[in-house]
Amino acid sequence: MAICSSPSSSSSSSSSSESSNGAKLWILHGIAAGVAIAAAVGARAYFNQFKKFRSRVVGIIPARFASSRFPGKPLVHILGKPMIQRTWERAKMASTLDHVVVATDDEKIADCCRQFGADVIMTAESCRNGTERCNEALQKLEKKYDIVVNIQGDEPLVEPEIIDGIVKALQAAPDAVFSTAVTSLKPEDANDPNRVKCIVDNHGYAIYFSRGLIPFNKSGKVNPRFPYMLHLGIQSYDAKFLKIYSDLQPTPLQLEEDLEQLKVLENGYKMKVIKVDHEAHGVDAPEDVDKIESLMREKNLS
Ligand SMILES: *[C@@H]1O[C@H](CO)[C@@H](O)[C@H](O)[C@H]1NC(C)=O
Ligand SMILES: *[C@@H]1O[C@H](CO)[C@@H](O)[C@H](O)[C@H]1NC(C)=O
Repeated sequence: MAICSSPSSSSSSSSSSESSNGAKLWILHGIAAGVAIAAAVGARAYFNQFKKFRSRVVGIIPARFASSRFPGKPLVHILGKPMIQRTWERAKMASTLDHVVVATDDEKIADCCRQFGADVIMTAESCRNGTERCNEALQKLEKKYDIVVNIQGDEPLVEPEIIDGIVKALQAAPDAVFSTAVTSLKPEDANDPNRVKCIVDNHGYAIYFSRGLIPFNKSGKVNPRFPYMLHLGIQSYDAKFLKIYSDLQPTPLQLEEDLEQLKVLENGYKMKVIKVDHEAHGVDAPEDVDKIESLMREKNLS
């Protein structure tokens, strides 16, 4: 067990959420839209056919030490445990993951993770983002995987059910190369550009992501009756696509919105989106640590 040395944490964050059956409902919705019984039988054959499709799954938690807003963030203690350990413990509970690794450029983070029992892959300091770090880690893993789940190290309360939901969505949608999750947008976040909104088609494929409110009501106001959706950071990729993803040139909509995932849609790839109940409590700044700790105490999480 690990006493990880870490910058003392004077901060807080909170994130929590209740996992939901959202993913399942979403997928079932697609089936229900089909034609009654024949469709149900067909659907079963369809899913069975892909049972082994993309079966090998790895969860990668990218963690870097440097962060302009919060240096050493992965090692900050949350109710006595390093945040990266909390994230890792949650990820280990996901039933769809064959392997969970931490990908880092930092020896302190690596040592800490080895102490609590995590497998660690060292990656270059030059990785510009978590996606690149995942890609580098994937190349360095001995085994081959079909799906990579990019699990943010700063969401210590990530639900294993959400991880499983996006993995299953990608396994059941051979035409998609990417899957991710959304949850209900709180009305007060409608005009916050840091809250990314998402719209999907009838089959649960992403149409667009925006920092602006989408769809935009004709009245110019937030429609209290519309089920707006907030994008959550967790994503999974087809392993072959992950290599392509990093090499895709920036695209106009991606650059305009500063949203990486738009590059995927602009190049014509399909992205599956599941809907979940989740209250995001990511740790972005030191102040977030207190928030997440009080939330965990409130909910009796330890
Ligand atoms: C816009 O929002 C209002 C409620 O605020 C709703 O009644 C209306 O149907 C929405 N759409 C249009 C086109 O106005
Ligand atoms: C990560 O960096 C790569 C390489 O610069 C770039 O192609 C990609 O758009 C970036 N992705 C994210 C998520 O920022």
